[in-house]
Amino acid sequence: MSVYECSEHMDNFLRELPKCEHHVHLEGTLEPSLLFNLAKRNNITLPDHFPPTIEDCAVRYNNFADLQDFLDHYYIGMSVLIQENDFYDLAMEYFTKAHADGCLHSEVFFDPQGHVERGISIDTVVEGFNRACKKANELFGTTNKLIMCLLRHLPAESGLKTIQDAHKYYESGILHGLGLDSSEKPFPPHLFTECYQAVKDKFPDVGLTAHAGEEGDHSFVSHSLDLLKVSRIDHGVNSQHSDELLARLAANQTMLSLCPLSNVKLQVVKDVRELPIELFFNKNVPFSINSDDPAYFGGYILDNYRAVHTRFGFTGEQWSKIAMNGINGSWCDEARKQELR
Ligand code: ADE
Ligand code: ZN
Repeated sequence: MSVYECSEHMDNFLRELPKCEHHVHLEGTLEPSLLFNLAKRNNITLPDHFPPTIEDCAVRYNNFADLQDFLDHYYIGMSVLIQENDFYDLAMEYFTKAHADGCLHSEVFFDPQGHVERGISIDTVVEGFNRACKKANELFGTTNKLIMCLLRHLPAESGLKTIQDAHKYYESGILHGLGLDSSEKPFPPHLFTECYQAVKDKFPDVGLTAHAGEEGDHSFVSHSLDLLKVSRIDHGVNSQHSDELLARLAANQTMLSLCPLSNVKLQVVKDVRELPIELFFNKNVPFSINSDDPAYFGGYILDNYRAVHTRFGFTGEQWSKIAMNGINGSWCDEARKQELR
């Protein structure tokens, strides 16, 4: 349902825009090619119902019924990640692609509980990812921050234990944020109040964010703001149904990290055109455009920018404002923000 053309000139413009990514799960950047390579390298037998070839993955990835259907697949996919080098290779593939797309700064999620419950230590995960962050900075000059997410389908006690295990990484500044992901509707924000409070008490400078309003209604967004004290919202599309919430997001300049192609693949909307992107823009609600789980949803950051452009036809000036909001909403220091501008 493309309405506007993305001319070569516009494509170059979008690539050159100073883009920041705030919503990408490193485990969701696991391309089928790397997934099958790692399965072989680590002697992992995938379950019978997992697509057996790259081509079968492409078909399956085009047919997710909803968020849960995707997550069931995503947790099997990540089971091939075993050694520190696997986590390093995974993140390096993402950073290389993001750099090629003209992304200058990435704040990336990962799900330690999805690995620890398989017997992988959090150190293996964080050390591998952190090594890749440093290498990408060295090779490409891009800046990268790690955001640890808690899985909301697991109890808050497991979240608190994970926060304890990550203590030294928050203390040393290797981890920059706390997020909340996985199945949304059955696990509302209030269940995790204590987890967020624990991080806020010990590390007041750590950035707080949470997935909300992807499948859950707008109360998931306002409760994340009220109870978890987040300064950013991941997705937040359902904020569109509350004028009061929209006014609050605009007044506080709370950024939504939108993921247009993800919303189509997970059946939140039938087409990117149905997303309230114009509404957010016109109501002065800041947002960034992100890829979420690009290996599964068929597009990295630039593909998401293109998809939005072909549906909404923003002008260069409007795109520059969107990019500027992304820089302002980033968790890098003021000096880096100045460089990005
Ligand atoms: N984990 C990975 N991708 C996710 C998404 N889109 N929503 C919730 N949890 C996720
Ligand atoms: Zn997400």
